[in-house]
Amino acid sequence: MPEDVPGPDEGIGLSGSPYTIRAAQDDDAAPLCGILNEIIRIGGTTAIEDELDPDTFRQYFLSGPNRLCCMVAEAPDGTLFGFQFLGSHADLPHDCGDISTFARQKPRSRGVGTALFAATLEIAGQLGLETINATIRADNTGGLAYYSKMGLQDDSLAPAVPLRSGKAVDRVSKRYRIR
Ligand SMILES: CC(C)(COP(=O)(O)OP(=O)(O)OC[C@H]1O[C@@H](n2cnc3c(N)ncnc32)[C@H](O)[C@@H]1OP(=O)(O)O)[C@@H](O)C(=O)NCCC(=O)NCCS
Repeated sequence: MPEDVPGPDEGIGLSGSPYTIRAAQDDDAAPLCGILNEIIRIGGTTAIEDELDPDTFRQYFLSGPNRLCCMVAEAPDGTLFGFQFLGSHADLPHDCGDISTFARQKPRSRGVGTALFAATLEIAGQLGLETINATIRADNTGGLAYYSKMGLQDDSLAPAVPLRSGKAVDRVSKRYRIR
């Protein structure tokens, strides 16, 4: 845990988490974009290869037509520690939401993804969705382990999807059945 964030035992917010989980607001775009861009710069996890500017981030994650919900994890001092986006996707059934999750890397903190998923799941149920899909790079061992721990199960594999570099990476799709 970072020094300035209380541990889970001092928790406030959702299910004992030190984070307050809430819907993303327009003025969260810059800090959330910073979290995403750090992950893009580190590389090897997200399929997004180019850093975004806050306006582009806002247009896609916060107000885009595909957005079903976008939840953020906020520490008691107001620092945002991650976000989780649920969106519709042309390749998925209408009652299936496509999820992506990004937790602050510097400093890192455990439990952000877990707290976000509990909230997103609740909203997905309220929206009447049947399933949640996550499509993950097969070389993203942390992402695969995270979604497995959240209860998503292997569904399908798209082999050898090329990155811009030409490197081919399989994509694993995992599903969570809500009802
Ligand atoms: C994947 C990610 C969202 C997980 O968030 P997180 O806040 O670290 O997740 P949590 O701390 O709540 O972890 C929950 C469980 O997931 C698993 N897990 C999470 N990260 C893991 C890792 N790097 N390696 C192995 N297991 C991991 C563990 O089982 C963990 O439970 P534990 O702490 O009891 O061992 C975060 O690491 C991240 O932002 N990664 C970069 C972006 C990414 O890959 N996103 C997913 C694809 S969209």
